[in-house]
Amino acid sequence: MRFPLSRPTLGDQEADNVRDAMASGWISGTGPYVGVLERSLEQRLGRAAAIAVSSGTTALEIVLSALGVGPGDEVIVPALTFAAPAAAVLTVGAVPVLCDIDPMSWTISPEAAHALRTERTKAVIAVDLMGHPCDFEGLAELDVPIVEDAAQAHGARTEKGPAGGFGVASVFSFHVNKAVTSGEGGAVLTDDLELAERVRLLVHHGMPPGQGYRHTVAGRNGRMTNLSAAVGAAQVSRWDELVAGRLRVERLYDVRLENRGFEPRPKRSWASPSCWLYGATSQDRDAVVERARRHGVDARAVWPALSDLPLYRPYAPGRCPRASEVSRTAMWLPTWSHMTAEDVDAVVEALV
Ligand SMILES: Cc1ncc(COP(=O)(O)O)c(C=O)c1O
Repeated sequence: MRFPLSRPTLGDQEADNVRDAMASGWISGTGPYVGVLERSLEQRLGRAAAIAVSSGTTALEIVLSALGVGPGDEVIVPALTFAAPAAAVLTVGAVPVLCDIDPMSWTISPEAAHALRTERTKAVIAVDLMGHPCDFEGLAELDVPIVEDAAQAHGARTEKGPAGGFGVASVFSFHVNKAVTSGEGGAVLTDDLELAERVRLLVHHGMPPGQGYRHTVAGRNGRMTNLSAAVGAAQVSRWDELVAGRLRVERLYDVRLENRGFEPRPKRSWASPSCWLYGATSQDRDAVVERARRHGVDARAVWPALSDLPLYRPYAPGRCPRASEVSRTAMWLPTWSHMTAEDVDAVVEALV
């Protein structure tokens, strides 16, 4: 494809860090760049603890386990999202309960979540969809632990603080299509130091630090490698630049697509969303995507609503019509932080 969906924005610092890690021979987990990445995430997000892990999916699974979520429990997840949050709930043996979205932010609807809450509800996974923060004040009224999934929301904010700063714990993904990347990777952030200790224990094979092979729980290896962290640490030091780059691209698309049959994704007035990938709707979505792809532009239809997939339909107690509607009309356009105005013009040319 002439224009892939996304590209990482990599520079000298990333290359220097990787060379340094290679020269030291420390390419596995727990190397020095892992600590650098964790401390800089804590500072940036104002959280007491950050734990780097091998992916955003691992982060979700381990947070749920550390919260004690398991068989017999329910976790409310939005019906419109990449499937990882629902899959993570199934992986720990609990039941995902699919919840419809707020049409003005495409994030989980607190009112709909309220109607789904039962005495078995152990947590809500609140996904900051495409960089739009959730209504955390509305969700707080549910009085169940919130796990913020900020996988797509590096740099987003509300007036109460940065995305990644909400809930009992939050998770990030640093997959290569994210604004800030380590290739593959993720992180758990929390202000609860006991929860942080449980997460670390589960990430490191269930071995308490400094006690040799005296495993206390059946843990896993969820560690981020020092090589990934070398890239990630450099990227976190460029966080503002990378986030600003994608917001600049979003504004260019907004202007270029005005009055051409596209609606930009909606935003709530209290939110300062970041831009993961440029999102818009069109009533001709499928034809637009097909035309773009014929012209070498990797435009993509968004995910189907989970409630419309055979695998997840049994977990949608009510239907999720708003999620279905967005998934029928919404698409992403190629987005990366160093994308030029000429790139955006060429993509738009292929669409209309
Ligand atoms: C909302 C959401 N949660 C979790 C994940 C999982 O992250 P990873 O791909 O790093 O496993 C993703 C991945 O894109 C995501 O979009």
